Amino acid sequence: TARVRIHHLQQAKAAGDKWSMLTAYDTYAARVFEEAGVPVLLVGDSAGNVVLGHSSTVPVTVEDLLVFTKAVTRSTSRSLIVADLPFGSYEASPEQAFATAVRMMKEGGAQAVKLEGGARVAPQVKLLAENGIPVMGHVGFTPQSEHALGGFRVQGRGDAADQVLADARAVADAGAFAVVLEMVPAEVAARVTAELAVPTVGIGAGPECDAQVLVWPDMAGLNGGRVPKFVKKYADLRGELLRAAQEYAAEVRNGVFPGPEHSF
Ligand code: KIV
Ligand code: NA
Repeated sequence: TARVRIHHLQQAKAAGDKWSMLTAYDTYAARVFEEAGVPVLLVGDSAGNVVLGHSSTVPVTVEDLLVFTKAVTRSTSRSLIVADLPFGSYEASPEQAFATAVRMMKEGGAQAVKLEGGARVAPQVKLLAENGIPVMGHVGFTPQSEHALGGFRVQGRGDAADQVLADARAVADAGAFAVVLEMVPAEVAARVTAELAVPTVGIGAGPECDAQVLVWPDMAGLNGGRVPKFVKKYADLRGELLRAAQEYAAEVRNGVFPGPEHSF
């Protein structure tokens, strides 16, 4: 089957068909998610937390994400691959954003990029969209601005709802093909979804969004620590991997592994 294209996602919105997105950073996960029929994979800067061991996405570099983007694009042929633009690689000017996005596409092989922010990054979105780079927006809670936003908190409560709507509109009007809504009240996300012509992709944004996204090690239970309220754990990969590693270590200690069938 052919590659998912951005117009397919817009058609899905028109038809009322919901779709999913998962993050991916490496070859096995990317292949599994594509085989599972997840139409869009995001090489997210959440890699900072879930792959690189940082405590936020702030330290993630373009070079870091290029490595993961290459791994994911080499490993897939059907899912649409979106690469995040890391903190500091696009905010200063539309030209800076363009240069970074070109790297994600030419070197990384991504078919689209994502950047965080509302009206303040509309000029960036516009320049990219006008020059053949599909852009996904990201408003509401934007992790790269964690320090300015005062930590992980729901955005768009009460009077702030209008701000979320205005930011989503600004990036959509500038040419974004979809907009992530992170940690906004479900009713605000529903309003944004109804008002935007392009799909909304929710994470902690309720059931009315056109699509949903989760960080894969969170949804697969690889994270042993606390996960946000919006995460549903679909597996216990940490438990399974822990059991496997313990069993392997014990069998080596006990002389059970390798057996004759593993030996030459
Ligand atoms: O980096 C990431 O994983 C993301 C998603 C949570 C939308 O930006
Ligand atoms: Na991200």
